[in-house]
Amino acid sequence: MFSDADAAALYDLLNPWDPKRWPSDGFYDGLVMAADSVLDVGCGTGSMLHRAREGGHAGRLVGLDPDCAALARARRRTDIEWVEGTAADAEWNAEFDLATMVSHAFQCLVTDHELRASLAAIYAALRENGRFAFETRHPQTRAWEDWNPSNASDVTDASGRALRVWHEIESVVGDLVTFTATTAEPDGAVLRVDRTSLRFLGVAALDAFLAEAGFEVEARYGDWNRGPVTTTSREIITIARRA
Ligand SMILES: C[S@@+](CC[C@H](N)C(=O)[O-])C[C@H]1O[C@@H](n2cnc3c(N)ncnc32)[C@H](O)[C@@H]1O
Repeated sequence: MFSDADAAALYDLLNPWDPKRWPSDGFYDGLVMAADSVLDVGCGTGSMLHRAREGGHAGRLVGLDPDCAALARARRRTDIEWVEGTAADAEWNAEFDLATMVSHAFQCLVTDHELRASLAAIYAALRENGRFAFETRHPQTRAWEDWNPSNASDVTDASGRALRVWHEIESVVGDLVTFTATTAEPDGAVLRVDRTSLRFLGVAALDAFLAEAGFEVEARYGDWNRGPVTTTSREIITIARRA
């Protein structure tokens, strides 16, 4: 009723890459354009790398994601390398100046084992002094409390179909939040339900994983204007360096 390809197209409609609208997109655009070679881990539909190429990036751009339907949209641009797989699957060896995990893709790494394997693979993919930039939602502001049906989004897709999308929390266990995203017709007829778990690591736990993988934290921000992490920050934005 609502295919994976439909879901990937809807993702782009709800989350357009737009640095004028989203300061986070501008933050990453600046890092990407300044790096000769970029690996975007969890690239999804590839919109950040598409924008980089359109903006004149002439170096190597590689997107990695396990979601085939999202990658099929990414592949609409053929002047970028697209690879199917998880972060932990990455097998590059000292090839990139910059690795990214944007739009909170890092939070998809939910188990300690997956986090360790993913960070090790990203570390190995970076050249000496290469940087890994990513953000994770700070657990202190409990973003998941806004993910409920009263915050539903109404949208008309590319084929003119009216849709309603909403989230519902299933469980919060330790630092793991599991929720569903429901895509429905405006009368409530359900077309699709996707279940996701995201991990909300705090600063200390995050830094312990980074240090164990060999990364040094070069910069840490609590907002997209590069302010420090405070008791009200919604984000933990990290630029880590391969030592
Ligand atoms: C919120 S989306 C962000 C997509 C894209 N970075 C963007 O900015 O639109 C999270 C992405 O992470 C991907 N993902 C999930 N688990 C992953 C893993 N273990 N390794 C790499 N990517 C993963 C998903 O398939 C999805 O495309």
